[in-house]
Amino acid sequence: MSASRLLGEIADVGRDPKRGGYSRHAFDAPEQDLRAWFGERALGLGLDVDTDHNGNIWAWWGPPGPDAVVTGSHLDSVPGGGAFDGPLGVVSALSAVESLQENGFRPGKPFAVVVFAEEEGGRFGVPCLGSRLLTGTIDADKARALRDADGVTFAEAAAKAGFDPARIGADPERLGLIGKFLELHVEQGRGLIDLGSPVAVGSTVIAHGRWRFSFTGQGNHAGATLLADRADPMLPAAATVTAVRRLAHAVPDARATVGRLVPTPGGTNVIASTVDLWLDARVPGTATPALVEDIRQAAEAAAADEGCRVTVTRESYSDDVVFDDALRHDLGGWLGAPPELPTGAGHDAAILAGFVPAGMLYVRNPTGISHSPEEFAEAGDVEAGAAALATVLERLAR
Ligand code: GLV
Ligand code: MN
Ligand code: MN
Repeated sequence: MSASRLLGEIADVGRDPKRGGYSRHAFDAPEQDLRAWFGERALGLGLDVDTDHNGNIWAWWGPPGPDAVVTGSHLDSVPGGGAFDGPLGVVSALSAVESLQENGFRPGKPFAVVVFAEEEGGRFGVPCLGSRLLTGTIDADKARALRDADGVTFAEAAAKAGFDPARIGADPERLGLIGKFLELHVEQGRGLIDLGSPVAVGSTVIAHGRWRFSFTGQGNHAGATLLADRADPMLPAAATVTAVRRLAHAVPDARATVGRLVPTPGGTNVIASTVDLWLDARVPGTATPALVEDIRQAAEAAAADEGCRVTVTRESYSDDVVFDDALRHDLGGWLGAPPELPTGAGHDAAILAGFVPAGMLYVRNPTGISHSPEEFAEAGDVEAGAAALATVLERLAR
């Protein structure tokens, strides 16, 4: 089945009527539906499906073994995300397998399609959680203790989804099977729009991380509390939002975002007792922690001005990644020298790149918008991407 038709099959799963787009979070009902759908489609292609103890799904074409060619992406989304970020890589992999099968190709190497769990960190806060766990890039106890917005831990959610929380963690045996990893993904910025090509080869991923700033003040009455008597944590939080933009402007090519701000208890006539603010910061090279340190100092000064306190917790961090030179060279050669593209978006392929040769293919996104319902790829480009993936998988798995 074509990649576009496969996308069509899941077009109604996890639509978010409030935010628009899709909300599909790790182990929630829509994501479980997508997992089941993936399993059925993979079985239909004669693949053997199993789920590792970190919630990543593997569909093997032939027996599992070392030096495997592995391709895939994720099925979860950000809150109110687009239809392509993640699913495009999964449907393209399934479609590529089917077209290789129809052409009579049989892999000479172990071959798997993988779906990684919680790539967006949309539920438990840490992006690429499935690939971080697989590679041991995150401590298992830390992962088990991560909580969603309702206070449910990752361990509890995993148990409810049928996994043994005690077995969550580094999986060197499974990781050791991967010979090469390739992820196809929708392009998430304007990078491919003017290059005249539906497909690009990934070159680098910018260093990125997430920090939680917790401002604490005094919850109180909005009418009965004089301004002079307040310790309102919303004020330093607001000052921090503007400091993030101001300080990031001073750092070449920095991106820094506050996309989530949660006051507690969150009432119109209530001065908040705490405000949690999440910072996403990304700077090429090694400058991200220094930028975050400047932001932390601005947050502390603003908190002190209002008689509040702030604590800062790093939730995740990944260094710059350069995808494997030899693989990039091969991908470019097999695909007729498409453009190479850096990205500011994070990916499971970038986590795996620290352990195995990994690469990425991007499919043109004419809106240049992602993590939003406006994310898009033309059907013709979706098929060009799936065809490119089939071409390179056939070479890699000979
Ligand atoms: C994932 O898409 C990220 O870059 O946050
Ligand atoms: Mn994403
Ligand atoms: Mn993605």
